[in-house]
Amino acid sequence: MYDAGKIIVGLLVFVALATSPLWFNALFGESPAAPELKLPTNGSTECVEARDFMVANHMDLLNQWRDAVVRTGTRDYVSTLNNKTYDMSLSRTCMDCHSNKTEFCDACHTYLAVSPYCWDCHVEPKGAD
Ligand code: HEC
Ligand code: HEC
Ligand code: HEC
Repeated sequence: MYDAGKIIVGLLVFVALATSPLWFNALFGESPAAPELKLPTNGSTECVEARDFMVANHMDLLNQWRDAVVRTGTRDYVSTLNNKTYDMSLSRTCMDCHSNKTEFCDACHTYLAVSPYCWDCHVEPKGAD
C-alpha cells in the first residue's frame, strides 16, 4: 500500500525545492557570484573575454599571458569577444579596469578561500577605486 501522507510530504518538499532555486542555492549550492563584486567604474562594459569564460578561466588566461610575455615576448592579446587588442599585463590591463582589487578580486577570492601570490611581485592598484 502507498502511504498518502508520505507522498504528500514528499511532493511538498519537492515543490519547495524546485521552486526555490535561489533559496536552495544559498543554503546548499556553491554560488561563485555570492559576494557583491564592484565592477569597473571606468565606463567599460566588457571584460577581455565573455563574463562566464572569465569567471571560469581567468587564472588560466593569466598564466597564458605570463607565459606569452616571459617566454616569447608577445604582448598583444586579441580578444575573441570583441576583437580588441589588449596588452597582456596583470597590472596594466586587468587592474586598470578592475582597480578596486579589494572589492573585486579579493572579495571573490576571500569568499572562496583562494589567495593568489601574484602581489608579492606585481603592483596592486593603489586607490580604493
Ligand atoms: C576593459 C576593462 C576590463 C579589463 C581590461 C578586464 N576586465 Fe574583467 N571585467 C570587466 C567588466 C566590465 C566585467 C563585467 C562583465 C559583464 O558583466 O559582462 C568584467 C568581469 C570579470 C570577471 C567576472 C566577474 C563576475 O561577474 O563574476 C572576472 C573574473 C574578471 N573580469 C577578471 C579579469 C581579469 C583577470 C582580467 C585581466 C586578464 C580582466 N578581468 C580584464 C572589465 C575588464
Ligand atoms: C567570480 C569570482 C572571482 C573573481 C571576481 C576573481 N577571481 Fe580569481 N579566482 C577565483 C577562483 C574560484 C579561483 C580558484 C580556481 C582554482 O582553484 O582552480 C581563482 C584563482 C585565481 C588565480 C590563481 C590562483 C592560484 O593560486 O592558483 C589568480 C592568479 C586569480 N584568481 C586572479 C584574479 C584577479 C587578478 C582577479 C581580479 C582582476 C580575480 N582573480 C577575480 C574566482 C574569482
Ligand atoms: C616572484 C615574482 C613574481 C610572482 C610571484 C608572479 N610574477 Fe608574474 N611576472 C613576474 C616578472 C618578473 C614578469 C616579467 C615582467 C615583464 O616582462 O613585463 C612577470 C610577468 C607576468 C605577466 C605578463 C606581464 C605583465 O605585465 O603582467 C603576467 C600576466 C603575470 N606575470 C601574471 C602573474 C600571475 C597571475 C601571478 C600569480 C599567480 C604572478 N604573475 C606571480 C614576476 C612574478
